[in-house]
Amino acid sequence: MKGIVLTAGGGTRLQPMTWATSKQLLPIYDKPMIYYPISVLFEAGIRDILMVTTEHDLPTYKELLGDGHQFGVNFSYVTQPTMDGVPQGIVLGKDFIGDDSVALVLGDNVFYGSGFKQNLAHALENASKGTATIFGCRVEDPTRFGVVDFDAKGTAISIEEKPVVPKSNYAVTGLYFFDNSVVEMACNLQPSAMGKYEITDICQQYLEQKRLKVEQLDLSFAWFDTGTVDSLFNAGEFIRVMQQSTGVKVAALEEIAYEAGWIKRAHLLKCADRLKKTDYGKYLENIALSTRH
Ligand code: DAU
Repeated sequence: MKGIVLTAGGGTRLQPMTWATSKQLLPIYDKPMIYYPISVLFEAGIRDILMVTTEHDLPTYKELLGDGHQFGVNFSYVTQPTMDGVPQGIVLGKDFIGDDSVALVLGDNVFYGSGFKQNLAHALENASKGTATIFGCRVEDPTRFGVVDFDAKGTAISIEEKPVVPKSNYAVTGLYFFDNSVVEMACNLQPSAMGKYEITDICQQYLEQKRLKVEQLDLSFAWFDTGTVDSLFNAGEFIRVMQQSTGVKVAALEEIAYEAGWIKRAHLLKCADRLKKTDYGKYLENIALSTRH
């Protein structure tokens, strides 16, 4: 399976912070925002990842992430000329996806919860059988999101983008697992009344074809769309509290790569050394010195 991370988009709700910097490079506590969605793909075992960014931000992303060798993965890049909508990431990634299935993650989404790795494994399996998977999370204000409604048996029955009158409190999170048929769907998609291509329209097509699984993330799960000042702050505070109370870092990409066997201990130590003035560096060094691989 291939992975695509969407990091284009203007970040208008975070101005002036995003006047000179890409939203997804802003910090969530101790790491750039982009580390968090990338970590989801890593946790799913996905190592071929396309970053969709803007011409302006491309050099900065390349400087931060390079070709991925420091994590034992492959990062490639494509630029999106106009912000026409999330499905354009699939259209731009057509050749990269090839005949494969694909996981799409939005660059401003943060996920945290136990059992998530298992959810991801199921999603991968579903995609290999032609079924897409999305994740629904209960939120206070669903009008900001794609909204999924369920029948009494918990089966998804409708998906709408930012409805004025939401049918449920379940937001569609920014993580989507598709089989290869999504490429054709994205290429043939029509713009919505808002003039944009909507990822929810693709989900709706899967739903109509009875090829959509909606996993409901339970109440112990934390999900943030960090596109507003408050949610950005809340996500950072949440990560700070969780990391300090558990002693485990969230979205430490080098750690995930090391645990997966994608990089060796000597390499992890080099990564730690580069960060030696930080807690992050000390954390990585401890991992390298305390475990056997
Ligand atoms: O976060 C979950 C929500 O994300 C879903 O509930 C919605 O259904 C989905 O449409 C999306 O809504 P947003 O309003 O949050 O999308 P936004 O325009 O903020 O873009 C999400 C990410 O995708 C962000 O990191 C920027 C990137 N993006 C966005 C557009 C429109 C691109 O890379 N290219 C684009 O053309």
